Amino acid sequence: MWMRMCRLRCGRLCRRRGWGKVVGLCVAGFIFGLMALVSFGYYFRHQLFDTFVKCTDKDSRRFIDDFCGLYKQGVITGSLCRPLCETGEVKFDRCTNFHAGKEVHLMNCTNFCRPQQTIPAVLKSSKINATMVLKDHPNVDMGDDITTMLKHQIRQLVVSDLGFLPFDTSDAIRVMWDEGFDQYLSDPVQKNAAYRTIMMLMDQPEYKMVKSLKHSNVVPRIYGTCGPMFLEESCPSGPLDVQLSYFSRTKPFPTSSSSSAQWREKASVAIGLLELLDHFERDFPQPLHLCDVKGSNFGMCVDGVVKMIDMDSVFFNTTMYNIFNLSTCKTHDDCNFFDCRGWCDVATGKCYSIRTNNNLQLVCDDVLTGPLPAVFDAGGLLSAAPASVAKELHAALDECIVQTGVEKGVPVYKPPPAIQRKIIRLLQHSIAHLDSS
Ligand SMILES: *[C@@H]1O[C@H](CO)[C@@H](O)[C@H](O)[C@H]1NC(C)=O
Ligand SMILES: *[C@@H]1O[C@H](CO)[C@@H](O)[C@H](O)[C@H]1NC(C)=O
Ligand SMILES: *[C@@H]1O[C@H](CO)[C@@H](O)[C@H](O)[C@H]1NC(C)=O
Ligand SMILES: *[C@@H]1O[C@H](CO)[C@@H](O)[C@H](O)[C@H]1NC(C)=O
Repeated sequence: MWMRMCRLRCGRLCRRRGWGKVVGLCVAGFIFGLMALVSFGYYFRHQLFDTFVKCTDKDSRRFIDDFCGLYKQGVITGSLCRPLCETGEVKFDRCTNFHAGKEVHLMNCTNFCRPQQTIPAVLKSSKINATMVLKDHPNVDMGDDITTMLKHQIRQLVVSDLGFLPFDTSDAIRVMWDEGFDQYLSDPVQKNAAYRTIMMLMDQPEYKMVKSLKHSNVVPRIYGTCGPMFLEESCPSGPLDVQLSYFSRTKPFPTSSSSSAQWREKASVAIGLLELLDHFERDFPQPLHLCDVKGSNFGMCVDGVVKMIDMDSVFFNTTMYNIFNLSTCKTHDDCNFFDCRGWCDVATGKCYSIRTNNNLQLVCDDVLTGPLPAVFDAGGLLSAAPASVAKELHAALDECIVQTGVEKGVPVYKPPPAIQRKIIRLLQHSIAHLDSS
């Protein structure tokens, strides 16, 4: 986590306050980090290992095998279990790195995801030790009112994470686990396996978020579940992941060789990303705040739609403001929640109930433009624009990033939707210009 914080802080400082101080700060931060590392000893080593050392296919296969073992004993269930554990239609391909605390594996999916086809898919789960499953989720004596009880439990678990219930309580089981809970109820063994499976899935904030948002096209779809594992649509971040693509095994970007084809590809992805922001603003009972904005958290799915693939730092408005309302501070930085920036009321030591930037500003600042000062024009998704739009595009992106005003005496960075539309228009023009020349 501290590496991530350092990256976020440095990234911001490097751009805004000049390099000299920053290098000093980052070095100091690094030394502090090293000290923390030594003192936290084993725990930290373990964390770093999880985060930065390559995963091994052997461990990943063992994780899946352990849970398939539980499925065969009737301990867990779900529509994914049979194709994953018995028929081999869902096949492990390779593991992926950079996912501390989560299992994330690439799979080949035949028939189960799309009839008569083999397509890539992503298997996710929290890291759970299979030997602990029965201890943590023992069989419970289920009365007739199990569905009522389960609906209320789901309600509670969703509200605690999302801040409110984005669907009816009566729909809770169907929304969270559309694999036919009713059909398991008649069988006393299956009933427990289904209940345990739902509970293990409900322990995972990402699963809850993706299921709650599934009616909108902003998150990958979930094909099925088996115990704590869920199989998701594959949406590689290749095109968007400008910095990390050197390390990932996804196809390098841009995939085309000619520079005009490269721009066409980058501009279309950027348009998709900007359009996605509208959905976050409008599709749900409350707007969503994206607090960790970087290219690798978005991906382009098989159908060409850009979606958000890491929901760990996405919050509904109520939750976001609860976080600000409950935070205490000495400096403004203390009120930042990852990329969602706040403001400290130094007199009272409490954070203002205000977010000082918005999703659009973050996308412009952290994805569309690069991490380097503007003169380098490198590293961002929209760097190296064709001459026909470069000047206007840079002006629009600048406008998207700078301070836009003052709210309750606090400087805010909240570019209006008009700027988003302007950037989209410029990108469409640039593509049209390429087509005509
Ligand atoms: C999965 O599919 C890819 C692409 O078709 C192929 O290269 C790979 O060998 C497959 N892996 C397995 C385990 O079948
Ligand atoms: C799971 O826990 C058991 C006993 O608590 C331990 O022996 C085993 O190594 C653990 N497995 C993993 C993969 O951590
Ligand atoms: C978000 O929540 C805050 C605090 O409850 C409220 O003042 C604000 O109007 C809400 N914003 C939107 C767009 O719903
Ligand atoms: C946060 O505090 C503000 C001002 O006191 C209040 O208007 C708002 O409703 C609170 N928001 C939440 C989510 O508690």
